Amino acid sequence: MSQPKSQDSPGPSVKPENEAAPLLDVIDLRTWFDTESGVARAVDGINFSLRAGKTLAVVGESGCGKTVTALSILRLIPMPPGRFASGEIRFEGRDLTKLSPQELRSIRGGKIAMIFQEPATSLNPVFTIGDQIAEAIKLHRKLPPADVRPEVIRALKSVQVSDPERRIDQYPHEMSGGMKQRVMIAMALACQPRLLIADEPTTAVDVTIQARILTLLQDLQAKTNMSILLITHDLGVVAELADDVVVMYAGQVIEQAPVEQLFDHPRHPYTQGLFASLPNIEGEKKRLVAIEGSVPAATRFPEGCRFRERCPHAAEICLQNPPLVSIGDNHSVACLRHAEIVRPA
Ligand SMILES: Nc1ncnc2c1ncn2[C@@H]1O[C@H](COP(=O)(O)OP(=O)(O)OP(=O)(O)O)[C@@H](O)[C@H]1O
Ligand code: SF4
Ligand SMILES: [Mg+2]
Repeated sequence: MSQPKSQDSPGPSVKPENEAAPLLDVIDLRTWFDTESGVARAVDGINFSLRAGKTLAVVGESGCGKTVTALSILRLIPMPPGRFASGEIRFEGRDLTKLSPQELRSIRGGKIAMIFQEPATSLNPVFTIGDQIAEAIKLHRKLPPADVRPEVIRALKSVQVSDPERRIDQYPHEMSGGMKQRVMIAMALACQPRLLIADEPTTAVDVTIQARILTLLQDLQAKTNMSILLITHDLGVVAELADDVVVMYAGQVIEQAPVEQLFDHPRHPYTQGLFASLPNIEGEKKRLVAIEGSVPAATRFPEGCRFRERCPHAAEICLQNPPLVSIGDNHSVACLRHAEIVRPA
């Protein structure tokens, strides 16, 4: 397959100004799938950076490429049908797309851990939760065998699992959804990752547990300086946890900014649509709002701006591809008409 033309990309990475080197730098990443109906360009030329100790939220409608981005970083994309059509994923200076399976194993679940969208699928039903957390610890940390069980109990306590001395010997099916979610977080955090990827970490749990999980993540981040890549549909979660936000649409980054800047001054018509019911960062209606129409299939993206068919501001010029450009204040946007568009009241 030939390399994509440069105008397919929304443009070069726009790095935060005056910042230290990022922990994670995703550069022109394309993760494509060869399918019967053609090439699905699930992730198609994205750029973003994540600094140590910070939280970057990735938002966007269903199917825009958030999970494929996360799985690409961990190299968990099945290849084939998936492949990296271009790009680099630089983590602590190394390109993860080039690592051997052995090098990957040492990073995955160790320096980089992930909380998956669906907890039930990531816990193994035939092992106790204690064995599963212990396995992760043994693989990534050099602890004397006698210290592993106390460390598992400590990990369970850290996510506020009650009665951890008893729970440690339970199987996943003996636990509620919220409890499994916390066990999965305990497992992810037991190895003291530098980067935690959390894909919809609170969808499977009720509001009270959600609040607890968010506080927990914040506390652990403050203690360990871990970075978090947070994927969510919930703008309340974004407002609470994120330092910076990346908005994805149809496999591309279409806007990126510090959280308050994005909530107060969204510049892309898509972001404005998503945030339509949000008066400000403290607003009450916090979920993403449905925009008329739907995301085009990854095998059939339109020419030019991919949001064109749904955009209330579309014009002739939008047949060209919009590059992601910096508009100051660490804010960047990929819309050819952003200078003319005022946020709807
Ligand atoms: N194995 C695969 N083969 C073909 N296409 C795939 C594969 N995995 C994902 N895709 C496509 O990639 C696109 C992005 O999917 P992804 O799962 O990243 O979306 P998402 O943003 O995480 O959505 P959601 O919010 O629903 O979780 C979708 O069009 C999806 O159909
Ligand atoms: S480039 Fe055109 S179609 Fe795309 S978001 Fe901007 S105004 Fe809308
Ligand atoms: Mg997803």
